[in-house]
Amino acid sequence: MRFEEKSRLLITCAPSLSDWLQKELEALGHSIALVRKTGIEIEGSLVDAMKLNLWLRTAFAVLYLVDEFDCPDADALYRAAVSMPWEDIIPVNEYISIVSYVDNPTINNSMFPNLKLKDAIVDRIMQREHRRPDSGPERTNIVINLYWKDDTAWLYINTSGNKLADRGYRRIPHKAPMQETLAAAVMMAAGYTGDCPLVAPMCGSGTLAIEAALIAQNRAPGLLRANYGFMHLKGFDDSIWKDIRRDAHKGKGSDPFSSRGLTPFSAPRIIATDIDPKAVEAARKNAATAGVDHLIEFKVCDFAETPLPPAPFIVVMNPEYGKRMGELKALEETYARIGDFFKQKCQGSTAYVFTGNLDLAKKIHLTASRRFPFFNADIDCRLLKYEMYAGTRRRKTTSEATETDK
Ligand SMILES: C[S@@+](CC[C@H](N)C(=O)[O-])C[C@H]1O[C@@H](n2cnc3c(N)ncnc32)[C@H](O)[C@@H]1O
Repeated sequence: MRFEEKSRLLITCAPSLSDWLQKELEALGHSIALVRKTGIEIEGSLVDAMKLNLWLRTAFAVLYLVDEFDCPDADALYRAAVSMPWEDIIPVNEYISIVSYVDNPTINNSMFPNLKLKDAIVDRIMQREHRRPDSGPERTNIVINLYWKDDTAWLYINTSGNKLADRGYRRIPHKAPMQETLAAAVMMAAGYTGDCPLVAPMCGSGTLAIEAALIAQNRAPGLLRANYGFMHLKGFDDSIWKDIRRDAHKGKGSDPFSSRGLTPFSAPRIIATDIDPKAVEAARKNAATAGVDHLIEFKVCDFAETPLPPAPFIVVMNPEYGKRMGELKALEETYARIGDFFKQKCQGSTAYVFTGNLDLAKKIHLTASRRFPFFNADIDCRLLKYEMYAGTRRRKTTSEATETDK
């Protein structure tokens, strides 16, 4: 398979992240061909896909289009797939898995198209090579994605394999952790580039602080991972991958969301605290796995006791919102205390609250200057921005109702 050959790349993401993914892609120099709710299309080669796997912070997977074809039923799927040159793409000693999204009236068993496609690929390779690759559900090696809508099907090589949100640093998740891709998008929405101090009270397993440290350090998040789908394809050249990684280690490559190069590096402070000692322990260990523990100051304390740098700084909090943990009554008080904390201790700085409960957010009793829409799994969430000008007063929340979302 020729890694320089261009095709369409579909970069997938969580439903609320396509705006942030688009910004990342544009800043990395790509022209956007099409924006979907859960993905963005660009033109690119497998070498481009390798770089994107390394640098993108908000993407789930980078998919390389193999073919698009008419596909009225499962027999058509088999016929089209068995005529494709899989022997040029998949080594016989490899392991393949099929992932599909199917919306076609002839299909009522979602596993059937996977089986049909797997048979076509394996039969084709068997005809040509007289041996066949193994197959199964693990996404550790070669992953083929099938999108089949009405009478059209698209076949992609999933160059990521396992989803990019699994960076590999969060070995200890603690309670209600935020997905890494979401945390990265939250830090981008907060305008964090690493050039002012960051405070993350209620840090939980540390995802926001760790993603911030990766951004501040201009560190490609993909450097933490050793295995990608593209490595298993025929024609993969390890020396090209080594060059791409070497450039990323030098900070070349480049991450638009950081304002600094990699070396020499002295970042403004990142402070992460949580009232639960187990959370702080998890966060510390996760940060060590990510290689950024030396950049983050950890402390076990109530959020209101978090040690603060001189203003201006960015403070980002992700309190519980009563859907997964926590009792609503107690949380009302916590949210009111968050408002007091911002008002009393964060003047001259910018404060953010990420929550899935806007009724609770009203208890903060401050007016959000912006509200960024997000989804955390299937929960409709907002990142609320509060400009804590020196002298910010407590205001009625009715004005929040007049604000528009992003
Ligand atoms: C929703 S979790 C944060 C998850 C985090 N964003 C992550 O990715 O792991 C909320 C955290 O707030 C902490 N917390 C709750 N009440 C607190 C308080 N009064 N002071 C400090 N932390 C508190 C909890 O221990 C929990 O770790």
